[in-house]
Amino acid sequence: MGARRVRSYSLLAKSMHWVFIGVFAYAVINQVDEVEELEHFTRLMKEVLFAIIFLSLLLFRFIYMRSARAAMPQLDMPKSLILLARTVHLGMYVSLALIAITGLIIGGLYYFGVKDGLVLEGILLSHEIFFWTSVNLMGLHIAGAIYHRLQGDGVWSAMVPILKEEPDK
Ligand code: HEM
Ligand code: HEM
Repeated sequence: MGARRVRSYSLLAKSMHWVFIGVFAYAVINQVDEVEELEHFTRLMKEVLFAIIFLSLLLFRFIYMRSARAAMPQLDMPKSLILLARTVHLGMYVSLALIAITGLIIGGLYYFGVKDGLVLEGILLSHEIFFWTSVNLMGLHIAGAIYHRLQGDGVWSAMVPILKEEPDK
């Protein structure tokens, strides 16, 4: 087996990765249970403000991580697996952004008086579909991370603070 490379993301990259999971969990725990809750102006504004902050954090993270990843040593991995990992990462960004964007559209429709009907139903359905797509992609991503930990190729330790593999002496 070749020498194990020491890889590590910056503290900012790691913090964003783990804090963002908390932000997403907060959004899911505090989600709107019934569309009628948006009748309350403060609830509607709170959701809209949260969605804007969520989107800004996601965009900042996306831009920052592009340069952080470019600075990492190349991985000795089949091209197909690299492509799969990148697709899942990009898929998570896109589906997470689309949850917030459809949420903002729901908020806008509700604010301007579209409180039922096919258009609102359609956007609500897409909001839920993007949520479940992101959850499934996260499942695939975690499976990928565990695969890397079993391979001991340094990808896990570059991002995860526990169960790190020992670097080769
Ligand atoms: C980042 C932002 C957001 C996240 C992560 C999020 C997450 C969720 C989740 C997990 C659900 C439940 C899906 C399901 O049960 O399958 C949901 C439903 C919903 N969300 Fe969001 N949401 C966000 C933003 C918004 C915004 C900005 C609005 C509107 C102002 C909104 C309005 C709703 C409504 C009306 C429902 C459906 C409630 C029902 O089933 O009647 N969401 N959201
Ligand atoms: C559940 C929510 C999660 C999301 C949304 C998420 C998202 C991401 C994304 C988009 C990346 C690519 C780098 C970036 O742009 O930040 C990444 C990297 C990574 N994540 Fe996660 N992640 C999650 C959970 C986890 C968990 C639970 C683990 C470990 C058990 C994990 C392990 C890793 C590792 C090892 C990398 C580095 C991969 C590389 O170097 O290419 N992630 N994560």
